[in-house]
Amino acid sequence: MKKLSGDVYYPSEDILNNAIVKDWNEMDKFASENLEGFWAKEAEELEWFEKWDKVLDDTKKPFYKWFTGAKTNIAYNCLDVHLKTYRKNKVALIWEGEKGESRIFSYFALHREVSRFANVLKSLGVQKGDRVTLYMGRIPELAMGMLACARIGAVHSVVYGGFSVESLHERLEDSHSKVLIVCDGAYQRGKIIPLKAIADEALQRAASVESVLVVKRTGEPVNMEFGRDIWYHELVNLPIINSKNDIEKVDAEDPLFMLYTSGTTGKPKAILHTHGGYMVGTYSTFKYVFDINDEDRYWCAADPGWVTGHSYIVYGPLLNGATSMMYEGAPNYPFPNRWWQIIEKYGITILYTAPTAIRGLMRFGEAWPNRHDLSSLRILGSVGEPINPEAWRWYHRVIGKNNCPIMDTWWQTETGSFMITPMPCMPLKPGSGTKPFPGLKMDILDEAGNPVKDNEEGFLVIKTPWPAMMRTIYKDPDKYIEKYWSKYDGMYLTGDSAKRDEDGYYWIIGRTDDVLKVSGYRLGTAEIESALVSHPAVAEAAAIGLPHELKGNAIHTFVILKSGFEKSEKLREDLIYHVGHEVGPIAKPESVEFVDVLPKTRSGKIMRRVLKARALGEDPGNISTLEE
Ligand code: WTA
Repeated sequence: MKKLSGDVYYPSEDILNNAIVKDWNEMDKFASENLEGFWAKEAEELEWFEKWDKVLDDTKKPFYKWFTGAKTNIAYNCLDVHLKTYRKNKVALIWEGEKGESRIFSYFALHREVSRFANVLKSLGVQKGDRVTLYMGRIPELAMGMLACARIGAVHSVVYGGFSVESLHERLEDSHSKVLIVCDGAYQRGKIIPLKAIADEALQRAASVESVLVVKRTGEPVNMEFGRDIWYHELVNLPIINSKNDIEKVDAEDPLFMLYTSGTTGKPKAILHTHGGYMVGTYSTFKYVFDINDEDRYWCAADPGWVTGHSYIVYGPLLNGATSMMYEGAPNYPFPNRWWQIIEKYGITILYTAPTAIRGLMRFGEAWPNRHDLSSLRILGSVGEPINPEAWRWYHRVIGKNNCPIMDTWWQTETGSFMITPMPCMPLKPGSGTKPFPGLKMDILDEAGNPVKDNEEGFLVIKTPWPAMMRTIYKDPDKYIEKYWSKYDGMYLTGDSAKRDEDGYYWIIGRTDDVLKVSGYRLGTAEIESALVSHPAVAEAAAIGLPHELKGNAIHTFVILKSGFEKSEKLREDLIYHVGHEVGPIAKPESVEFVDVLPKTRSGKIMRRVLKARALGEDPGNISTLEE
């Protein structure tokens, strides 16, 4: 193996001998020389009701299409196909509740549940192409609801359970959802988040929703509106609901789901993914990167409400017939050993989580993990933000016992599947996601579009299409082109800045736009600002992200008050509460500073860059456009 520069962790003999992919270079060479052939070969491992005419159709780029003419269904490939094999009785989903209770579903059982769920949706009039919003805690019914939508060709839109009234309202309205699936409440650190009550408030302003399906989790009393709200358990247990459910044979390019995500400006946009390409992309990236085999018990600790949960709790693992674990609660509740206890209890072999969680758990010291038998682990993963080398080494040494390679996967809601990622057979460098997935061409460019030199920072772009790529922004194809395809001709702009070292390894630095990654969660400065200005006391507001030891970034805000309002500690607290109420607790600002003016360009745009430089005590750079 070639000697690489810097701090390098080479794969063990054991991994090299047993991994699915033993020679990454060979695989990359094959995929690069024959991109369509590579993906066709992957696609052939899945089931199609009708085969494709073309693997890749780029006639209308950047509106790429994959597997055109084919008919399939991702839910069929996640469940039904496994019933024809020995996997019928294999565990598909392990769920552990915050209180320690567990529910375990075989592929057979999950298939039955999803089929019944699909019939429940049909009984509410949901048809192919209809949008269904899910706003729930981390419970099995969330995954079942997603799969049930997919099964009947409906389009799911999952709204993270940590979002609040306005975020939910916006998403219900924009998607024009016919049905909302919600829980009565969700457990979080022993407390109950009243999801149904939040939904009731959001629903006052969302006209399209005809029915609200309520899944009982906490048993706390909730308001049930006659004619609109119905308990899931009551409906699913009616004698008319059986598990006979014909799968909808959808086009490969039919929409599977939309997922709202924060962009550069304005309201969150719905990223649209389809059945065929997304299925192939999540299937093979999951297989190769986590080197999955039948003995594995895989745990992705993300929330299904974000893309990581979609692709790598639900779809990727089930397509592979793997055993996927879902845990309801927080990593350190009731004690900081909760995760380690779960790994020991279930014999988890692969753990996939975010740097912020690792840093948080690291803070409690090694004694907590050391109390548990973590020897079942063989591969670790990281996602959501750059992992600092210190956290990487701790994860590797204390959790992985120097035995588990760390798959630092870089990707986005838009990309659907892993883009820059190691595989277990590759040498690793702490803090680098190594190289683009086989066949994928990426680059780092300067403002003018020239590739930067090794170890210089620039804009990260993707130069080849890939199957799980987003197809468009829902209802806004122009924005899709403008945001992602217009800075450099024919290239997808990621919005991240990065460097590439002399070994061709990529190092992600962070966002170059107004997107913030706070504890791995993606938020836009615009969402926080519009929540602030919706408060009666606020005239103008600006939000920026500043480095934070645990969260990666923390939100800092600057507020100009309307005349007649006095700054006070009470008002500051009110504003923080207000953002939490409107957007969600994850968006609560770390600080609110009352100011008299905000730096703006002559055309009136807030210069967040100047605010950030000032807060960091740095030089704000070119301020020639700054208004006097
Ligand atoms: C960041 C999450 C560094 C990046 C899957 C990207 C990362 C944004 C990594 C997308 C990683 C994600 N290393 N940065 N391994 N993974 N990011 O849409 O800034 O919630 O653009 O998707 O997260 O966030 P999103």
